[in-house]
Amino acid sequence: MDRKKKGLLDFRRMKEEKERLTWLTAYDYPTARFEEQAGIDMILVGDSMGNVVYGYPSGTLPVTMDMCIVHCQAVRRGAPNTFVMGDMPFGSYQTTPDDAVRNAVRFVKESEVDAVKLEGGRRVAPMIRAIVDAGMVLCGHIGLTPQSTGQFGGYKAQGRTAESAIELIKDARAVRDAGAALLLLEAVTPEVGEFITKDLDIPVYSIGAGPLCDGQLLIVSDVLGIWEAFKPKFVRRYAEVADISVKALTEYVNDVRAGRFPEDIHCYKMIEGEAARLEQLAKDLR
Ligand code: KIV
Repeated sequence: MDRKKKGLLDFRRMKEEKERLTWLTAYDYPTARFEEQAGIDMILVGDSMGNVVYGYPSGTLPVTMDMCIVHCQAVRRGAPNTFVMGDMPFGSYQTTPDDAVRNAVRFVKESEVDAVKLEGGRRVAPMIRAIVDAGMVLCGHIGLTPQSTGQFGGYKAQGRTAESAIELIKDARAVRDAGAALLLLEAVTPEVGEFITKDLDIPVYSIGAGPLCDGQLLIVSDVLGIWEAFKPKFVRRYAEVADISVKALTEYVNDVRAGRFPEDIHCYKMIEGEAARLEQLAKDLR
């Protein structure tokens, strides 16, 4: 399907006109194709791949730049007409603004993403500023930031007290002031989601931040029911692909064992007369 790729100007207009943006993660070529066919506005190649693709017990932390680049390249090929964002993995930007720029440049040059995302508020403002000054489009990410769950004591909703909500608002403003073009809020109360969305002039998107942000992100493996280990409160499943897959694979195993697969229709045919010739030639081999 050929369609016009949406970009920053569209996202700003959509915020103004209160048109909600749709956003999903993808990690591979076929899923990116499905999402583009479904009309998604934006794709995140998330470092959540550490959980949902690679099954690392420590989640996103072991994910590297090289892994992200390869997955971004596959998604780019699958969704050439969709805004694709690369997620900067743990260790790729926390060190220095120079490292942050070098790694953001790798994303753009090697996988042709349209933007990069990184986690954190005031403490990463210098890295955000450096990436934006180098000419790239950046999305901030505050609230529950999975790369810092060690400091939060696990995957816990943020902004549930007035004081912690104020800290989030200060972080949101710092990210905007540092030059971020977009902001993602993860696992915060709807009150905080609504306040920050109205407070900032840049588009603010929700993953577990309630219905009043400018758009909605979910992890595709949650939406399709592929990832079964944990279902966050903010997820709605639209399919049970894990169940469908296990059922189909069990049928395959049973059919092969019972001799029901392959059948005649799955077999190549010899050219007319060649089967008889083969029999003759094979005799001469004996
Ligand atoms: O990596 C990811 O998919 C993310 C989402 C959890 C927001 O950053």
